Amino acid sequence: MQINTVGVVGAGTMGNGIAQICAMTGLNVIMVDISTAALLRAEQSIGSSLDKLLRKGSLDESGKRDVLGHLRYSTDKNELVDADLVIEAATEAESLKLAILRDIDAIVGPKTVIASNTSSISITKLAAATTRPDRFIGMHFFNPVPVMALVELIRGLQTSDSTQTAAEEFVSRIHKTAISAKNSPGFAVNRILVPMINEAVFVLQEGLASAEHIDEGMRLGCNHPIGPLALADLIGLDTLLAVMEVFYNNFKDSKYRPAPLLREMVEAGYLGRKSGRGFFRYA
Ligand code: 3HC
Repeated sequence: MQINTVGVVGAGTMGNGIAQICAMTGLNVIMVDISTAALLRAEQSIGSSLDKLLRKGSLDESGKRDVLGHLRYSTDKNELVDADLVIEAATEAESLKLAILRDIDAIVGPKTVIASNTSSISITKLAAATTRPDRFIGMHFFNPVPVMALVELIRGLQTSDSTQTAAEEFVSRIHKTAISAKNSPGFAVNRILVPMINEAVFVLQEGLASAEHIDEGMRLGCNHPIGPLALADLIGLDTLLAVMEVFYNNFKDSKYRPAPLLREMVEAGYLGRKSGRGFFRYA
């Protein structure tokens, strides 16, 4: 399947990263969000990520202009009409994603593949909201997208072999490595990672160690690049809570109960880096 134009729906952290790496590999990208402010922030965030690459010398000024020239931003979903692949990267809320996917499905051509960057929601259920469940797949990116090498591909019950192959080809085209996981809450990577972060919040809540020492412990003792609480701040505490809720509600197993402190931080609006405060503070 020939992919020339990629639609990215949702101008949050993940959507921005996905749009950027697609544009960096010469794909035309149309980014859609209902909020003009979010699109403006996306433009700035992609610009500053490209500037990091400029400073490192892995991109020059004309390369940067070229990448920017491959990106379009719009609040009008109808602009997705020409996309060969649409990646939904909206907030991690099932009803919202289902509504967005129905809209996308009604706009794009019958051959277009639709993918969701969901962190935990059933791909089978999301696929069923479209009229092309065979051309639907989970495409789970990792934050920060320009740096992280992995894309986890998740087949719903309905996903066809040709959609899986097209997704694998797309992942190598954007210079990432794909792993395949079955459709189950949180798939493979988040099923391991998110309960580990949730446990770090329990350790903090129980006063067993300070936030700094929990993170230092995991960095120096387990060679993690950043500690679990700093990682929570990077991912977004609201996203982590949503993923834990999906685990808890689906597996009905108390081992997946969200740490009360995680819930309270979200209630307070301490969402991590994006709100300037999470387990740590950000300028
Ligand atoms: N764009 C471009 N480059 C970036 C970047 C961005 N947004 N963010 C970081 N970088 C680059 C920096 O320029 C730097 O490059 P260099 O080594 O060539 O100079 C390099 O990445 C390292 O960055 P920093 O020196 O600023 O900081 P760190 O050494 O702490 O590295 C990190 C940053 C790569 C994010 C590292 O901390 C890390 O690997 N953290 C763990 C990330 C992780 O686990 N992500 C997965 C989250 S789970 C997820 O996303 C799934 C979801 O569903 C929940």
